Order: sequence, then structure tokens, then C-alpha cells
Amino acid sequence: MAGRFITIEGIEGVGKSTNVDFIARYFRERGETVVVTREPGGTELAEAIRRLILDTPREGLSDTGELLLMFAARAEHLHSLIRPALARGDTVICDRFTDATFAYQGSGRGMDWGRIETLQTLVQGDLRPDLTVLLDADTAVSAQRVAGRGEAKDRFEQERAEFFARVRAGYLRLAAENPQRITVVDAAQPLVDVQARLKEKLDVRFK
Ligand code: TMP
Repeated sequence: MAGRFITIEGIEGVGKSTNVDFIARYFRERGETVVVTREPGGTELAEAIRRLILDTPREGLSDTGELLLMFAARAEHLHSLIRPALARGDTVICDRFTDATFAYQGSGRGMDWGRIETLQTLVQGDLRPDLTVLLDADTAVSAQRVAGRGEAKDRFEQERAEFFARVRAGYLRLAAENPQRITVVDAAQPLVDVQARLKEKLDVRFK
């Protein structure tokens, strides 16, 4: 596959959207064709699955159902958008991908990582991101930013601090196990500093 596949991860409120825009600009300025997308979602069908997941209260959807819906959305996203874009040679920047499933469904909900690996192989084969940026911050920083948005909370945003502490630990475990692919950026710093670090890392990686 010719194109680059870059994903951004982190718990809620760490500034993923702003930094997705920053990374997209970085590659557009280099003259690359950039496709920005997100998970769960990214295609009409996958966005419908996203609404189904996020709008269903905790008791209305089992942990197994949640896990399978994440991968169902991912299968459609890969089929209709990500793989075709990579085949054209585009740079695909995705706000969350399978690391989120290990962190949220695996570490957050307590589902077995081995089963998630099996689904990962079924849905993706050997496709993995070329680079994953993990924006890392303490759960207190993230909770403060989410509260500041003043919007209605979805299925995950309603979870307690302990849940996000487990999710964060899951992400840090993934980063420790995949040091070549996952780069960790301290998201508790002011945004200018986060983006300066991000630029340095992209320059080193894609010079
Ligand atoms: P977002 O609001 O950051 O776009 O993500 C939607 C929510 O979905 C977020 O709380 C994380 C969650 N999620 C999972 O639990 N597992 C996954 O595999 C993905 C992609 C997202």
C-alpha cells in the first residue's frame, strides 16, 4: 500500500481534534493529498453505527455487543474509505483506531486483549497504522476539559474517573509494547508546546 496511515489516540478531552487538524495541515503543506477521518465512523454506515453505540445507555448494550459494533464500523470504514485512499497513495489521518478498542473495550471494560487481537486480524489482516500519536494526560486534565464543553455526555463520557484511568493505562501499555509505531506526547502542556513536540516528531519520522 502506497499511502501513509496515521492515527491519533488518547482519552477524552486531550485535544485530539485540534491536533488532527495540525497534522493534516503539516502533510498538506508538503503537497500530499490528505484524508481526515474518525472512528467509530468515517462512512455513512459506520457513522450510523457510531450513533447507535454512543446514544445507547450503558445498560442497553452489552460489552460484547459494543466490541463487535466497533469492529463492524471499522470493517466498513476500511473497506469503503481507508483502503481505497491508501491504495491511491493518499495520507490518511484517523482520529482513533484499533488502539482505542484495546484501551476502552479491553482495559476500560475488562475484555480480553487476546480476543481483540483475533478480531483485529479478522477485520484488518496485517494492516496497522504507520504512526500513532498518543496524546497523554492525567484523567483530571481530561475531565476538566470535557466538563468545560458543556455538552450532553455520551455513553463513554458518562463513565467515572476510574474507567478513564484504566483506559489511559491501556494506552500506555500499548505504547510500551509498540515503541516503533506509537509516539507519546504530553498533552497536559500548553497547545503551542504540544504542537512543537508533534512537529519535531513528524520531522524526524517523515523528513
Ligand atoms: P470520540 O468522541 O473521541 O470521537 O470517540 C467516541 C468514543 O468512542 C470515545 O469515547 C472512545 C470510544 N471508542 C471506543 O470505545 N472504542 C473504539 O474502538 C473507538 C474507535 C472509540
